[in-house]
Amino acid sequence: MERLKAILKWSGIVLGSLIVLFVAAVYARHDRTFDSPYPKITASTDSAVIARGKYLVNGPAHCTGCHFAPEDMAKAAAGEEVPLKGGFAFQLPFGVIRTPNITSDKATGIGALTDGEIARVLRNGVFPDGRAVFDFMPFHDLSDEDLTAVISYLRTLPPVHNPVVNREVNFMGKAVSAFLITPVGPSAVPPRRVTPDSTAAYGKYIAHSIANCVGCHTNRDLMTGAFVGPSFAGGFSMPSDVMPELTFTTPNITPDPETGHIAQWTEEVFLHRFRQGVQIPGTPMPWGSFKNMSELEVKALYRYLQTVEPVKNKVEKVVQKTESN
Ligand code: HEC
Ligand code: HEC
Repeated sequence: MERLKAILKWSGIVLGSLIVLFVAAVYARHDRTFDSPYPKITASTDSAVIARGKYLVNGPAHCTGCHFAPEDMAKAAAGEEVPLKGGFAFQLPFGVIRTPNITSDKATGIGALTDGEIARVLRNGVFPDGRAVFDFMPFHDLSDEDLTAVISYLRTLPPVHNPVVNREVNFMGKAVSAFLITPVGPSAVPPRRVTPDSTAAYGKYIAHSIANCVGCHTNRDLMTGAFVGPSFAGGFSMPSDVMPELTFTTPNITPDPETGHIAQWTEEVFLHRFRQGVQIPGTPMPWGSFKNMSELEVKALYRYLQTVEPVKNKVEKVVQKTESN
C-alpha cells in the first residue's frame, strides 16, 4: 500500500513536471521562425502580366474568395471584385484565423513588403518575420510567371487602411504551431511557365497548384491538413465558414462509374455548372471566383478529371446539420 502510494506520488510529480515542461515548450516555440530563401520573383508593370494576375486572383486562384472583408461577403461569393482588405474569419478548433489585408497599404496591408517576401509567403509558406504560414493557400507549385503575375497585380491594388488581427489562437492552437506546423513549400522545382490551353496537363496544374480542387476533394485530417484519402475521391467534411450550422462533405469527383459524382457529366454539363455559381448556400467551394474561369481552363479541368484514378467512395450527403458536441 505504502509502496503504491509512493509510486502514485512520484508518477504524479513526474507527470506534473512534464506538463509544466510541455506548457513552457509551447510558449517558447509557438512563435518559432524558419529560414527560407526568397524566390527570385520581381513584379512587372507590363499590362499583359498584370491582366493575367488579375484573372488568377479573381478567378481560379480565388484570393478574392478568402481575402475579403466580412461586409463584402455576398459580393465575394458572387464572384465580384472586392477590395482585398481582409478580415474574413475561419473558426477552427484551435482558434480564429483571419485573412490579412493584402492591399498595397503600407501600414496595414502588404505595401511595405518586398516582392521576395510576398513570393516567399505564397511559395514557401514563410511569413516575412520567419513564422510558418498555416497552409490555407495551395500556391507552392505556381509557375514563376504566374507568381510574378499575381504579385504584379497585387501591386496595383489601391491601398485600403484596415488593421486585421490575423490570429487569435487558444492553447491548443499554440501547441499546434509549436509542434505540428512547419512551412509547406513546393513539391518540386516550380516550373518557369505553364502555358494555358485546354489540355489535361494544364487542367492538372489548375487542379493542384492554383484552384485547390485536390485540397478539398480529398479526405484530410482537419487538425493537421494531412491528406488521408485517395485524391479527388471526396469525403472531406468541413463546417461551413459562413453558416456553421451546416457541415459540407466534398463529393467524389473521380470518374468512377458508380460513385463518381460527375462520372456521367458531359463537358457541356460541367461547363454549365461552373457558370452557375453557388447553388447550395454556405458552401465552402468558391464557386463565385470559379465562375470567372475561362472556358479554356474549365475544359482543361474536365479533361484532367477524366484521367484521374477512378475510386469507389460513395459520399451520401454533401450537406448536413453540424453535430453539436
Ligand atoms: C482559402 C483561403 C485563402 C486563399 C484562397 C488565399 N489566401 Fe492568402 N491567406 C489566407 C490566410 C488564412 C492567411 C493567414 C495565414 C496564417 O495566419 O498563417 C493568408 C495570408 C496571406 C498573405 C500573408 C500576408 C502578410 O501580411 O504577411 C499573403 C501575401 C496572401 N495571403 C496572399 C494571397 C494571394 C495573393 C492569394 C491568391 C493567389 C491568396 N492569398 C489566397 C487565406 C487565403
Ligand atoms: C474549399 C473547398 C473546395 C474547393 C477548393 C473546391 N471544391 Fe468542389 N466542392 C466543395 C464542396 C463542399 C462541394 C459540395 C457543395 C457544393 O456543391 O457546393 C463541392 C462540389 C463540387 C462539385 C459538384 C457540384 C454539383 O452541383 O453537384 C464539383 C463538380 C466540384 N466541386 C468540382 C471542383 C473543382 C473542379 C474544383 C477546383 C477548380 C473544386 N471543386 C474546388 C468544396 C470545394
